[in-house]
Amino acid sequence: MDPIYLDHAATTPIDPEVLDVMADTYKNVIGNPSSIHSFGRQARRIIDDARDTIAKYIGAESREIVFTSGGTEGDNMAIIGAALASRKFGKHIITTKVEHHGVFRTCEYLESLGFDVDYLDVDRTGRISVDDLKKKLRDDTILVTIMYGNNEVGTIQPIQDIAHLLASHQALFHTDAVQAFGTEDMDVKDTPIDLLSMTGHKIGGPKGIGFLYIREGVSLTTMTHGGEQERKRRAGTQNVPAIAGLGRAVELVRDRQPERIGRYLEERRTLLDTLDAEHVGYRVNGNPDHFLPQILNLYFPGTNIETLLTKLDLAGVAVSSGSACTAGSVEPSHVLTAMFGQDAPETRSSVRISFGSGLRLEQIKEAGNVIAQSVRELVGIGQD
Ligand SMILES: Cc1ncc(COP(=O)(O)O)c(C=O)c1O
Repeated sequence: MDPIYLDHAATTPIDPEVLDVMADTYKNVIGNPSSIHSFGRQARRIIDDARDTIAKYIGAESREIVFTSGGTEGDNMAIIGAALASRKFGKHIITTKVEHHGVFRTCEYLESLGFDVDYLDVDRTGRISVDDLKKKLRDDTILVTIMYGNNEVGTIQPIQDIAHLLASHQALFHTDAVQAFGTEDMDVKDTPIDLLSMTGHKIGGPKGIGFLYIREGVSLTTMTHGGEQERKRRAGTQNVPAIAGLGRAVELVRDRQPERIGRYLEERRTLLDTLDAEHVGYRVNGNPDHFLPQILNLYFPGTNIETLLTKLDLAGVAVSSGSACTAGSVEPSHVLTAMFGQDAPETRSSVRISFGSGLRLEQIKEAGNVIAQSVRELVGIGQD
């Protein structure tokens, strides 16, 4: 059996059309976009076009888009930049217990600088309560950072309600939209989000490129000092081929959004049907109504996650125990811990399966059979 890749939430294969655009740019565009001669202007046009495409897709103005090296940098730039720029208005920040480490560790870093961070609890489906957020908001709250969709369990947060609640408060609202981008409709004109970060490599784009949306008028302390690129918000020569690729990747998700969502839901259904037909005991971790279609987190009672992942890998099925950054460590997932409690069995026996566009349904069925077989071997006979 050829290996089956079901870890698209960690990263996606690059779309061939994106690769074509990048190869073409590498070959034919040699200028530095800051140079004023024709070579520079040619490179500049490429980044302007990509910026326009991206801005239009999320209802922003082109000048509100800053290219970054991906999700982690966007999160850092938004959170540290906002905290430092707003510290004269307060030192209180609110986030959640289920953020990606790009946000989580950045908030911890700010705590070490003297900021006061509240981490909101989530329910057993991974959702925060807007009432809790309301209770935690203080006059000196300067930033609320809450992810759009979770990378481990796929739960989507009540982003519209949060954004509207914060619209009348001084606190800036940042959302890490890395996983939700391309499947959720995002319009920063309708939803008053101040800062939104994304990355290219989760949507068939290149790795090492992403953007941060910064609402006009929001001021961030700059983290990179040097040239005047990106309207002085991120110094350093832009990665023109990667930006060209990102622009194309965004066009492709824009044009294929309903088809991709339908496909992921079909893949998800096929996998669950296969497990049901095999009478495997499992439970879906996440929210039944508010979830990203490409992420499916399953709890298999009685299994040990590390053994299961190794077994699946040897059998040619690549899934994950959570975020790629924590995989490989024995630490239980902080997301599942926040949902189910310290030492809950779900934290030791759950896998994340994540879907992508290039999969055939027969591959999903094959993977489902391998998972069923492996789970059966781990929990012993008669599991139904
Ligand atoms: C929700 C979320 N935020 C941030 C990141 C980090 O993005 P990048 O790998 O582009 O730094 C990831 C990647 O796994 C993610 O899933």
